[in-house]
Amino acid sequence: MENKMTKKTILTGLRANNDLHIGNYFGALLPLIDMAKAHAGEYQINLFIPDLHSFTTPIDHSQLQEQIMNNTRLFVAAGLPLDNPDVHIYRQSYIPAHSELTVILNSFTGIGEMLRMTQFKDKSSKLGADRVSVGLFDYPVLMACDILLYGAEYIPVGDDQSQHIEFTRDIAERMNSRFGDLFVMPHEVKKQHEFFGKDQGLRIKDLQDPTKKMSKSDESGKGIIFLSDDPKAAAKKIMGAATDSIGKINLNYETQPGISNLLQILALFTSEPLDNVVARYEGKTSYGDLKMAVAEATEAFLTEFQTNYSHVDMATVEAKLRGSESTMNQIANQTLQNVQKAIGIR
Ligand code: TRP
Repeated sequence: MENKMTKKTILTGLRANNDLHIGNYFGALLPLIDMAKAHAGEYQINLFIPDLHSFTTPIDHSQLQEQIMNNTRLFVAAGLPLDNPDVHIYRQSYIPAHSELTVILNSFTGIGEMLRMTQFKDKSSKLGADRVSVGLFDYPVLMACDILLYGAEYIPVGDDQSQHIEFTRDIAERMNSRFGDLFVMPHEVKKQHEFFGKDQGLRIKDLQDPTKKMSKSDESGKGIIFLSDDPKAAAKKIMGAATDSIGKINLNYETQPGISNLLQILALFTSEPLDNVVARYEGKTSYGDLKMAVAEATEAFLTEFQTNYSHVDMATVEAKLRGSESTMNQIANQTLQNVQKAIGIR
């Protein structure tokens, strides 16, 4: 099938998550927004909140609605251009075709292939059997529908999602070979990486334990800078970051992970190439000066970001969501109808 839209589609789901930290911001959110800005015009960009995926493992439902809206707000505060007609932002559950196609494709999916999904194995092993939901098991089918309904070819996701992209290709091919050309094939994972560049490996480390990645699971919060942190308190976290006893600044993630992390954070906050920052500090012996610079940059960045966040006009965001959701319903329903006809229920 020819893609209905004249432009090829780049699509990705952005999981609702209350406490985004600077690792999420620089590692995932900002690259996506830069990508959207760089490619809109040439591509159609679909960014959506997978709200139906968000409770495949147990969550606090009293927070969900607020999380979804806060997240959309964050994307806008981070620079997602709402006035660009090629950029669509929508909530998965507002397009019922996702659920309907999932029910259909479930019957063309093997239990065995779902049981082999690494993410399912990881997540389900952490939950007791009674808490592993059918929804978690079915996660990859819903994700495949998210992609196939829009004929999306490029799917920028983290490495942990590669297997789900492979499955999307498998089910698309299976349906196409049985029923004719129903679905556009997303590109293979290798091509996805080439398209987005290999530089996805940015890893901001925990300030207290710089050998591990900055991650929400740190209970104390001392090693993490959240986008919602009070800027002065965040500056203090930087001043308290763990370093080493070498006494000389060098970029070396093996021997000086803490110092290297601080250099990296400084480069990101000041939008300077890392090389320049390193050149300025290399060989210096005062860790305190470096920390002061990073702390200042952190405070300035958070202050500006939080100002942007508070200025986001939610009425404009809601209007954008409604507009995109209406357009997306048309595209998705067309694909759904083709499938319904092909399998004989229409
Ligand atoms: N599973 C993705 C993640 O965990 C989110 C997601 C859901 C997604 N549906 C998608 C990503 C479709 C890309 C395409 O990050």
